[in-house]
Amino acid sequence: MKSRVNYVEFACGRKGSGKSELLARRAARFARRIILDFADEFAGAYRGAYESVGFGETLDALEDAVTRPNWIVVCSLLPEEVVKLAALLSPPGRPRAGLSYAVGGLALECGEVDIIAQTGAALRPEVANLVHRGRHSRTSMLLATRRPRDVSRLVTSQMDVLSIFRQQEPADIDYVASFASSDIAGQVAELGDYEHVQVMPHSGRVALIGADGTERMLLSAQTG
Ligand SMILES: Nc1ncnc2c1ncn2[C@@H]1O[C@H](COP(=O)(O)OP(=O)(O)OP(=O)(O)O)[C@@H](O)[C@H]1O
Ligand SMILES: [Mg+2]
Repeated sequence: MKSRVNYVEFACGRKGSGKSELLARRAARFARRIILDFADEFAGAYRGAYESVGFGETLDALEDAVTRPNWIVVCSLLPEEVVKLAALLSPPGRPRAGLSYAVGGLALECGEVDIIAQTGAALRPEVANLVHRGRHSRTSMLLATRRPRDVSRLVTSQMDVLSIFRQQEPADIDYVASFASSDIAGQVAELGDYEHVQVMPHSGRVALIGADGTERMLLSAQTG
């Protein structure tokens, strides 16, 4: 697989399966991060982080943050406000006019992506644009959900890395089977604590990753 500086990673699995921990590990590689804190779990989590409530405060935080080389903005936004943030980061049609490009790239983290991109609900064009064209504005997205089947295909079709933690609901296992083989989907029900199956949809590579984050087994190397 072509290595991508900007990418979309999508993690799914049950409550407590390790999604946030994994994405936090990935996010640590980014100097500039925006965390959409819908579950109110990141208050006080990062020393020196900006914490904002609402779009206005988030704008103020970003305005201050961009003068620094490294920063984290933890924001509590309504879905409507995320639409405005998406347009600010990567304006539809003008990705290089966005904030992400101006700062040299950033990671947008969302642990409950079903809140902003639900199956069946119309995906807002600003959000769709960010997911589909975010690379052009240097936005990477680190996304997670407990309910993968509730996340719009318009989002999941863009992922570069899919990390699947233990799932037991048949509908979620079917979802996994749509990206990997049904054999692999079966294994997802048997995963141990914090283990996950990592699927690279572009190359077809599938691997079992252990709780310590290292690769345990190559499950499929198929390319194309
Ligand atoms: N690889 C790991 N090794 C050891 N402990 C882990 C690992 N991953 C997560 N944990 C611990 O398990 C707990 C739950 O993990 P985490 O918050 O990542 O779950 P989650 O999938 O994001 O759950 P939720 O759906 O509730 O957001 C945390 O206390 C975390 O520290
Ligand atoms: Mg979590």
